[in-house]
Amino acid sequence: MNKSNIPKHIAIIMDGNGRWAKEQGLNRTAGHEKGAKVVRDITMHCSNIGIKYLTLYAFSTENWNRPKLEVQFLMKLLERYFKSELPVYLKNNVKFKAIGDIGKFSNSLQKIIKDTQDKTAHCTGLTQILALNYGSRDEIVRAIQKLNYKNIQINEKNINSALDTADIPDVDLLIRTSGEIRISNFLLWQIAYAEMFFTQTYWPEFNSNELDDILSDFQKRERRFGGV
Ligand code: IPE
Ligand code: IPE
Ligand code: MG
Repeated sequence: MNKSNIPKHIAIIMDGNGRWAKEQGLNRTAGHEKGAKVVRDITMHCSNIGIKYLTLYAFSTENWNRPKLEVQFLMKLLERYFKSELPVYLKNNVKFKAIGDIGKFSNSLQKIIKDTQDKTAHCTGLTQILALNYGSRDEIVRAIQKLNYKNIQINEKNINSALDTADIPDVDLLIRTSGEIRISNFLLWQIAYAEMFFTQTYWPEFNSNELDDILSDFQKRERRFGGV
Protein backbone atom coordinates (compact mmCIF):
# COMPACT_ATOMS: atom_id res chain seq x y z
CA MET A 1 0.00 0.00 0.00
CA ASN A 2 1.25 3.44 -0.98
CA LYS A 3 0.65 5.77 1.98
CA SER A 4 0.74 8.88 -0.17
CA ASN A 5 -2.29 7.83 -2.21
CA ILE A 6 -4.94 6.74 0.25
CA PRO A 7 -8.67 7.44 -0.13
CA LYS A 8 -10.07 10.38 1.79
CA HIS A 9 -13.38 8.71 2.60
CA ILE A 10 -13.97 4.99 3.18
CA ALA A 11 -17.50 3.65 3.80
CA ILE A 12 -18.18 0.13 5.05
CA ILE A 13 -21.35 -1.98 5.13
CA MET A 14 -20.48 -4.10 8.15
CA ASP A 15 -22.43 -7.28 7.38
CA GLY A 16 -22.36 -10.92 8.51
CA ASN A 17 -22.39 -10.67 12.31
CA GLY A 18 -25.29 -13.09 12.63
CA ARG A 19 -23.96 -15.68 10.17
CA TRP A 20 -20.52 -15.56 11.78
CA ALA A 21 -22.03 -16.25 15.20
CA LYS A 22 -24.23 -19.06 13.89
CA GLU A 23 -21.21 -20.77 12.33
CA GLN A 24 -19.48 -20.62 15.72
CA GLY A 25 -22.54 -22.17 17.38
CA LEU A 26 -23.29 -18.87 19.14
CA ASN A 27 -26.27 -16.52 19.33
CA ARG A 28 -26.49 -13.75 16.73
CA THR A 29 -25.88 -11.28 19.55
CA ALA A 30 -22.37 -12.70 20.06
CA GLY A 31 -21.66 -11.66 16.48
CA HIS A 32 -22.75 -8.09 17.17
CA GLU A 33 -20.60 -8.06 20.31
CA LYS A 34 -17.51 -9.16 18.37
CA GLY A 35 -18.44 -6.81 15.53
CA ALA A 36 -18.29 -3.82 17.88
CA LYS A 37 -14.67 -4.71 18.74
CA VAL A 38 -13.81 -4.80 15.04
CA VAL A 39 -15.31 -1.31 14.71
CA ARG A 40 -12.71 -0.09 17.18
CA ASP A 41 -9.80 -1.93 15.47
CA ILE A 42 -10.69 -0.69 12.00
CA THR A 43 -11.29 2.85 13.24
CA MET A 44 -7.87 2.91 14.93
CA HIS A 45 -6.19 1.52 11.84
CA CYS A 46 -7.82 4.13 9.58
CA SER A 47 -6.79 6.83 12.03
CA ASN A 48 -3.19 5.55 12.08
CA ILE A 49 -2.81 5.46 8.30
CA GLY A 50 -4.24 8.95 7.83
CA ILE A 51 -7.75 8.32 6.46
CA LYS A 52 -9.82 11.47 7.00
CA TYR A 53 -13.39 10.02 6.94
CA LEU A 54 -14.67 6.56 7.82
CA THR A 55 -18.43 5.91 7.59
CA LEU A 56 -19.76 2.69 9.10
CA TYR A 57 -23.29 1.34 8.57
CA ALA A 58 -24.37 0.30 12.07
CA PHE A 59 -28.19 0.26 12.01
CA SER A 60 -30.50 0.77 9.03
CA THR A 61 -34.04 2.14 8.85
CA GLU A 62 -35.02 -1.42 7.86
CA ASN A 63 -33.26 -3.10 10.80
CA TRP A 64 -36.26 -2.28 13.05
CA ASN A 65 -37.95 -5.23 11.29
CA ARG A 66 -35.70 -7.70 13.15
CA PRO A 67 -36.91 -9.69 16.17
CA LYS A 68 -37.61 -7.40 19.12
CA LEU A 69 -34.94 -9.01 21.30
CA GLU A 70 -32.23 -8.50 18.69
CA VAL A 71 -33.20 -4.83 18.24
CA GLN A 72 -33.16 -4.36 22.03
CA PHE A 73 -29.74 -5.96 22.24
CA LEU A 74 -28.37 -3.68 19.49
CA MET A 75 -29.71 -0.57 21.28
CA LYS A 76 -28.02 -1.61 24.53
CA LEU A 77 -24.81 -2.48 22.68
CA LEU A 78 -24.76 1.01 21.14
CA GLU A 79 -25.08 2.65 24.56
CA ARG A 80 -22.26 0.50 25.93
CA TYR A 81 -20.18 1.20 22.85
CA PHE A 82 -20.39 4.98 23.23
CA LYS A 83 -19.60 4.80 26.95
CA SER A 84 -16.45 2.79 26.36
CA GLU A 85 -15.36 4.59 23.17
CA LEU A 86 -15.39 8.23 24.29
CA PRO A 87 -11.93 8.04 25.95
CA VAL A 88 -10.62 6.14 22.92
CA TYR A 89 -11.88 8.83 20.53
CA LEU A 90 -10.34 11.58 22.66
CA LYS A 91 -7.01 9.83 23.09
CA ASN A 92 -6.72 9.32 19.32
CA ASN A 93 -8.02 12.75 18.25
CA VAL A 94 -11.01 11.09 16.51
CA LYS A 95 -14.09 13.21 15.84
CA PHE A 96 -17.39 11.35 16.02
CA LYS A 97 -20.46 12.14 13.95
CA ALA A 98 -23.81 10.36 13.60
CA ILE A 99 -25.87 10.31 10.39
CA GLY A 100 -29.44 9.04 10.18
CA ASP A 101 -32.63 9.88 12.02
CA ILE A 102 -31.56 9.40 15.64
CA GLY A 103 -34.85 10.91 16.89
CA LYS A 104 -36.32 7.39 16.80
CA PHE A 105 -33.91 6.14 19.50
CA SER A 106 -34.53 6.26 23.27
CA ASN A 107 -33.76 9.55 25.00
CA SER A 108 -30.76 8.07 26.76
CA LEU A 109 -29.23 6.74 23.54
CA GLN A 110 -29.88 10.07 21.78
CA LYS A 111 -28.21 11.89 24.63
CA ILE A 112 -25.07 9.79 24.60
CA ILE A 113 -24.82 10.15 20.81
CA LYS A 114 -25.09 13.94 21.06
CA ASP A 115 -22.66 14.08 24.00
CA THR A 116 -20.12 12.01 22.08
CA GLN A 117 -20.44 14.40 19.11
CA ASP A 118 -20.08 17.48 21.33
CA LYS A 119 -17.15 16.14 23.34
CA THR A 120 -15.17 15.13 20.25
CA ALA A 121 -16.10 18.20 18.15
CA HIS A 122 -12.63 19.73 18.68
CA CYS A 123 -10.76 16.63 17.43
CA THR A 124 -8.89 17.12 14.16
CA GLY A 125 -7.83 13.60 13.14
CA LEU A 126 -10.08 10.97 11.60
CA THR A 127 -13.82 11.66 11.53
CA GLN A 128 -15.68 8.45 12.33
CA ILE A 129 -19.26 8.61 11.06
CA LEU A 130 -21.73 6.02 12.29
CA ALA A 131 -24.92 5.51 10.28
CA LEU A 132 -27.60 5.03 12.93
CA ASN A 133 -31.24 4.50 11.97
CA TYR A 134 -29.89 5.45 8.59
CA GLY A 135 -31.57 4.91 5.24
CA SER A 136 -30.38 6.77 2.17
CA ARG A 137 -33.90 7.30 0.82
CA ASP A 138 -35.02 8.65 4.19
CA GLU A 139 -32.00 10.99 4.25
CA ILE A 140 -32.73 12.29 0.73
CA VAL A 141 -36.42 12.87 1.56
CA ARG A 142 -35.48 14.73 4.76
CA ALA A 143 -32.99 16.86 2.78
CA ILE A 144 -35.58 17.85 0.15
CA GLN A 145 -38.13 18.62 2.88
CA LYS A 146 -35.59 20.90 4.61
CA LEU A 147 -34.95 22.79 1.37
CA ASN A 148 -38.67 23.11 0.62
CA TYR A 149 -39.41 24.40 4.08
CA LYS A 150 -36.74 27.11 3.76
CA ASN A 151 -37.75 27.84 0.16
CA ILE A 152 -34.25 27.00 -1.10
CA GLN A 153 -33.72 26.09 -4.75
CA ILE A 154 -33.42 22.37 -5.53
CA ASN A 155 -30.02 21.78 -7.16
CA GLU A 156 -27.11 19.38 -6.60
CA LYS A 157 -25.14 21.72 -4.40
CA ASN A 158 -28.10 22.55 -2.15
CA ILE A 159 -29.23 18.92 -1.85
CA ASN A 160 -25.65 17.97 -0.97
CA SER A 161 -25.57 20.53 1.85
CA ALA A 162 -28.96 19.45 3.19
CA LEU A 163 -27.95 15.79 3.53
CA ASP A 164 -26.77 14.41 6.88
CA THR A 165 -23.33 14.17 5.24
CA ALA A 166 -23.09 17.92 4.48
CA ASP A 167 -19.39 18.95 4.75
CA ILE A 168 -18.23 15.35 4.27
CA PRO A 169 -16.67 14.60 0.86
CA ASP A 170 -18.11 11.88 -1.42
CA VAL A 171 -17.17 8.27 -0.72
CA ASP A 172 -13.99 7.13 -2.53
CA LEU A 173 -14.07 3.49 -1.48
CA LEU A 174 -17.10 1.40 -0.48
CA ILE A 175 -16.57 -2.01 1.12
CA ARG A 176 -19.20 -4.61 2.00
CA THR A 177 -18.33 -7.69 4.02
CA SER A 178 -20.09 -11.10 4.18
CA GLY A 179 -20.41 -11.85 0.45
CA GLU A 180 -23.65 -9.96 -0.23
CA ILE A 181 -23.38 -7.85 -3.37
CA ARG A 182 -25.90 -5.09 -2.70
CA ILE A 183 -26.09 -1.58 -1.26
CA SER A 184 -29.06 -2.00 1.14
CA ASN A 185 -30.07 1.69 1.14
CA PHE A 186 -26.62 3.03 2.13
CA LEU A 187 -25.30 6.42 0.91
CA LEU A 188 -26.96 6.21 -2.52
CA TRP A 189 -26.16 9.84 -3.33
CA GLN A 190 -22.63 9.85 -1.89
CA ILE A 191 -21.34 6.72 -3.68
CA ALA A 192 -22.02 8.05 -7.20
CA TYR A 193 -18.34 7.57 -8.15
CA ALA A 194 -17.09 5.30 -5.35
CA GLU A 195 -14.91 2.29 -6.10
CA MET A 196 -16.60 -0.83 -4.69
CA PHE A 197 -15.14 -3.88 -3.01
CA PHE A 198 -17.05 -6.95 -1.84
CA THR A 199 -15.39 -9.51 0.41
CA GLN A 200 -16.66 -12.89 1.61
CA THR A 201 -15.24 -12.25 5.10
CA TYR A 202 -17.86 -11.82 7.80
CA TRP A 203 -17.53 -8.50 9.65
CA PRO A 204 -16.39 -10.08 12.98
CA GLU A 205 -13.40 -11.55 11.10
CA PHE A 206 -12.53 -8.48 9.06
CA ASN A 207 -9.18 -6.95 10.07
CA SER A 208 -6.64 -4.30 9.21
CA ASN A 209 -4.56 -6.66 7.01
CA GLU A 210 -7.53 -7.28 4.77
CA LEU A 211 -8.27 -3.55 4.69
CA ASP A 212 -4.66 -2.89 3.61
CA ASP A 213 -5.04 -5.43 0.79
CA ILE A 214 -8.22 -3.69 -0.38
CA LEU A 215 -6.41 -0.34 -0.22
CA SER A 216 -3.60 -1.68 -2.41
CA ASP A 217 -6.21 -2.85 -4.94
CA PHE A 218 -7.97 0.49 -4.77
CA GLN A 219 -4.70 2.22 -5.66
CA LYS A 220 -4.42 0.16 -8.85
CA ARG A 221 -7.80 1.28 -10.14
CA GLU A 222 -8.12 4.12 -12.62
CA ARG A 223 -10.90 6.50 -11.63
CA ARG A 224 -12.20 8.45 -14.61
CA PHE A 225 -15.26 10.28 -13.26
CA GLY A 226 -16.83 10.23 -16.71
CA GLY A 227 -13.72 11.61 -18.39
CA VAL A 228 -11.23 9.71 -20.58
C1 IPE B 1 -24.64 -6.69 10.35
O1 IPE B 1 -24.71 -8.07 10.55
C2 IPE B 1 -25.04 -5.90 11.58
C3 IPE B 1 -26.35 -5.21 11.48
C4 IPE B 1 -27.09 -5.12 10.40
C5 IPE B 1 -26.83 -4.56 12.69
P1 IPE B 1 -26.07 -8.86 10.40
O2 IPE B 1 -26.78 -8.82 11.71
O3 IPE B 1 -26.86 -8.34 9.25
O4 IPE B 1 -25.56 -10.33 10.12
P2 IPE B 1 -26.13 -11.33 9.03
O5 IPE B 1 -26.11 -10.60 7.72
O6 IPE B 1 -27.51 -11.70 9.45
O7 IPE B 1 -25.19 -12.48 9.05
C1 IPE C 1 -27.17 -3.61 6.02
O1 IPE C 1 -27.13 -4.95 6.38
C2 IPE C 1 -27.32 -2.75 7.25
C3 IPE C 1 -26.17 -2.70 8.13
C4 IPE C 1 -25.01 -3.26 7.90
C5 IPE C 1 -26.35 -1.93 9.35
P1 IPE C 1 -28.45 -5.85 6.40
O2 IPE C 1 -28.03 -7.20 6.84
O3 IPE C 1 -29.51 -5.17 7.17
O4 IPE C 1 -28.88 -5.82 4.86
P2 IPE C 1 -29.68 -6.89 3.98
O5 IPE C 1 -30.97 -7.15 4.69
O6 IPE C 1 -28.83 -8.12 3.90
O7 IPE C 1 -29.83 -6.24 2.65
MG1 MG D 1 -26.92 -8.78 7.30
